[in-house]
This record gives sequence, C-alpha cells and structure tokens, in this order.
Amino acid sequence: MTRRATIIGTGSYLPKRVLTNKELEKIVKTSDEWITTRTGIKSRRIAGVGEETSKMAAIAGEKALQMAGVSPRELDMIIVGTITAEMVMPSCACLVQKEIGAEHAFAFDVSAACSGFVYALEIADRYLKNAPDMKILVIGAETLSSRVDWQDRNTCVLFGDGAGACVVTGSSCDEGLLASRLYSDGRLWQLLSLDAVPRRYCPVVDYGTIPDQSSFCDGSAFNMVGKDVFKYAVREMGDAVENLLKRESLTVNEIDLMIPHQANIRILKSLAERVNLPFKRVFTTIQKYGNSSAASLPIALDEANGEGQLQKGDLLLFSVFGGGFTWGVMLWRW
Ligand code: ACO
Repeated sequence: MTRRATIIGTGSYLPKRVLTNKELEKIVKTSDEWITTRTGIKSRRIAGVGEETSKMAAIAGEKALQMAGVSPRELDMIIVGTITAEMVMPSCACLVQKEIGAEHAFAFDVSAACSGFVYALEIADRYLKNAPDMKILVIGAETLSSRVDWQDRNTCVLFGDGAGACVVTGSSCDEGLLASRLYSDGRLWQLLSLDAVPRRYCPVVDYGTIPDQSSFCDGSAFNMVGKDVFKYAVREMGDAVENLLKRESLTVNEIDLMIPHQANIRILKSLAERVNLPFKRVFTTIQKYGNSSAASLPIALDEANGEGQLQKGDLLLFSVFGGGFTWGVMLWRW
C-alpha cells in the first residue's frame, strides 16, 4: 500500500506592522498605482522586534501543532525553508525546536529560496515513506525586510515577512501527497540572487515606524532581473504543471484549487492562463502580504484552510518558483 505524507494541521503568523504602498511612496520614487498594476500588491507585513524569523516560525508551528492535536514532544523532525534565518548557525529549525520544546525532534533548514517550503515537504514525504508514524513539522519563514535595500524601488516594493507551517504524518489512505517534481537550474543564478552576508548589520524595523533608508543594508542586497524572472517563472512552472498532470493521468479540470508561491499577481494570472486553469481557482494573498518567499505558500495554505476553502477530497496544486533558480509542483488530495 502506498504511504505518503498527509497534512494534519496548518498554522501561520503575520507581523503586526502593515506597510502600505502609500507609505512606500514616501520611501522611494514609486506609486500605489505602479505597484498595484505591476504586481497586485497593496500592502505587506514587516517584522519588528520579537518577530525574528525563528520566533514567527515557532508561533506558526505551534498553531499547526494545535490544529493537528500533536504535542511538541511528539515531533520527530522539524524542517524550516528559509533564506533569512537570524544566524547561519544554529539553524532556524533548531531555534524553533528550543522555542516550542520539541526535545525529541531533529531539526534543520532548507535553502531553496521561494521553493524552500515545497522542497522541505518533499524531504518529509521521503522520510514518511519508510517511517509513516513520524510526525514532522514543516515551516516556511522569512524576514525579507531585513535584507531588502530600501533605496531600490525595483525590489523593495515586492517583499514582505511572515511564517506558515504544517504538520505532516504518514497516510496509507487516498489522501495526501499524490505526486511531485522538483527542479533547479543553477546556471541562471545571476538572474535572482541575495548576498550571503548583509553589507552591514540590518536590524528589522521597529514596530510602528516606517522603514528609513539609513536603517537598512547599503547597496543592492537583492540582485534581480525582473523581466527574466517573470518569463522563466511562468514558463517553467507552466511546463512543470503540465508534465506532472500528464504523468499522473490527470487534467487541469480536476484541480479544485491551485495554491502557488505568491510572487506577482501577473505571474499567477499568466501561469493560470498558460495551463488553462480559471483564475477563480487560484488562491491569492499577494494583495495583502506581498512576496514572502518560502513563507508565502504555507501562509496561503493556512488561510485557505481557515476560510473553509479546502474540502475533503479536493485536488490541490502547489506551484513554486524562486532564486537558484529552483521550482517545483505538487499534487495533494486533501
Ligand atoms: N515604482 C515605479 N517605477 C518602477 C518601480 C517602482 N517600484 N520599479 C521599477 N520601476 C520602473 C523601472 O525603472 C522602469 O523604468 P524605465 O522604463 O524608465 O527604465 C519601469 O518602471 C518599467 O520597469 P519594468 O522592469 O519594465 O517593469 P515590469 O513590468 O517588468 O515589472 C516587476 C517589474 C514587477 C519586477 C516584474 O518584472 C516582476 O514581477 N518580475 C518578477 C520578479 C519577482 O517575482 N521577483 C521575486 C522573487 S522571485 C519569485 O518570487 C518568483
């Protein structure tokens, strides 16, 4: 009998501070109109003191555990997808382990940019094939605001902070992860990159203040060739969706909801159009939260779950794309 990962609880945490497009107009030469029409973003969340990546990850994780009815002591593994952990060592996942008291788990981070959460889910699924009783906490968490160059209007308007999580365990029923395929292409790394070490210490913005140019990284921390990222994201995710559906003898009509990485509303619309999925079956949070990299998909998943949009038996499509390049698709039976 096929054993596969199944999601038994979801959770998320969004920083309290809302940064609107109107406020960004005071920081860089931009406009609400430009940001809205080019990206779909109206506001994003910015982490403050006490909302470091591991703290947000731990809160999102605790909520997922609560929904799953699993205690931290029952956890066997914690995986965090992130590119903005507070420290290179220890991992964000070890800090989460300490924070929630998951003393029996082993913990590590996955670095795959915006695809980090889906890569982490894939690893969890592989463990569960051999040890289906394991309980695994999978998290995506980011504080991109601490790494963004707030003088670079090309990138600073895009990103936001937050964390999303789910608890997975093994299932031998029809539900769970039906199929997946991950990809990377390191040859294209220069189209989207982020320095390993900030140019200088970049504190997260204090709660209640507007990011001020002097508080953030010097120079261009993010390097991005936006048009190329856009083009590759639509093409590669589109191909990946079509290939996976074909491999599984499924059609796009059978997909109840696509929950994608929230990069840009235009990327999501182009992707939906390319694979012939009506846009009303694409779940979006980009308007409210911007692009929170590895955190964006699990935050969207938790919102869809909380809003009652996921019915038992639904076929869900996860689709992600990020720096590396990395990308991937997953099909879940809810
Ligand atoms: N406000 C006002 N004007 C701006 C801004 C801004 N915030 N940013 C750029 N501009 C200007 C540019 O300087 C350019 O001016 P110019 O014509 O005088 O040179 C003009 O607007 C047009 O810029 P384009 O790059 O042509 O705008 P485009 O339509 O390509 O949109 C965007 C840019 C939104 C970045 C788009 O390319 C995109 O979303 N790409 C994908 C990038 C992405 O998603 N990155 C996230 C990480 S990866 C991921 O998550 C998938």
